[in-house]
Amino acid sequence: MRLKDKVAIITGAGRGIGEGIALRFAEEGAKVIVNDVNETDANRTVEAIKTKGGKAVAVIGSVASREVAQKMADTAVQEFGTVDILVNNAGITRDAILHKMTDEQWDQVIEVNLKGVFLCTQVAARVMREKGYGKIINISSTSWRGNPGQLNYSATKAGVIGMTKTAAKELAPKGINVNVIAPGMIWTDMIKSMPPAMVERMEKSLAFIVPLNRKGAPQDIANLALFLASDESSFITGQLIHCDGGMIM
Ligand SMILES: NC(=O)c1ccc[n+]([C@@H]2O[C@H](COP(=O)([O-])OP(=O)(O)OC[C@H]3O[C@@H](n4cnc5c(N)ncnc54)[C@H](O)[C@@H]3O)[C@@H](O)[C@H]2O)c1
Repeated sequence: MRLKDKVAIITGAGRGIGEGIALRFAEEGAKVIVNDVNETDANRTVEAIKTKGGKAVAVIGSVASREVAQKMADTAVQEFGTVDILVNNAGITRDAILHKMTDEQWDQVIEVNLKGVFLCTQVAARVMREKGYGKIINISSTSWRGNPGQLNYSATKAGVIGMTKTAAKELAPKGINVNVIAPGMIWTDMIKSMPPAMVERMEKSLAFIVPLNRKGAPQDIANLALFLASDESSFITGQLIHCDGGMIM
């Protein structure tokens, strides 16, 4: 087991990529704090872990709330004794082209995708610093390089890369590794909620966009997150790794 008895906080773990990471980490022996705004989904992930004999506790609420972020770290310490791993996975889209984007769409995405990563990183790192050990994995997106209709989202996903590198430099002397994954097209509800015409176009042109010519799955990201959460990656920090079937080379 690659994460035996490690304690992991995973944000947005009720479905999609976060759920995939939570289930994979639990299979490898981690005790998991499952965060999500959606209580039903978070509880489903917790039950799935428990059914297989693992340990998990749900913390419901938004990553953009300092109280919720603090509760994740406090619950990890109270229930499982510490925080070893944080995966900043929760993220949202509120797509619109530049001239139609509202202040609300801009603010919502900044709050969750940027402030949420700041808050969860700060509270978890406080626990990790004390013991001189920790792994922080942020989830960006290939959209950090720019994607029409995603001015707000791409700004946050590029911002997360900057945060990763600063946190990696600040926390390296404390034995904490901080890395960032940029997923490509991963078939979750996030993609399925896009306009049907756009999804159809993506499916039809898959072979041209994705050299490995298949749809990404949450397990693809979970496997990379597992490597970055394990001690197999102990000499890697501050790195951006694309996991996208070769979209970006
Ligand atoms: N699916 C993709 O193709 C893709 C590509 C690149 C990056 N990503 C990134 O991967 C991450 C996960 O994406 P996904 O495809 O699984 O999305 P998803 O929408 O399927 O799942 C996101 C989960 O986060 C939860 N969530 C939303 N806002 C939250 C908040 N404020 N606090 C706590 N939880 C919250 C949702 O309830 C949901 O369970 C996101 O950061 C996303 O930007 C996804």
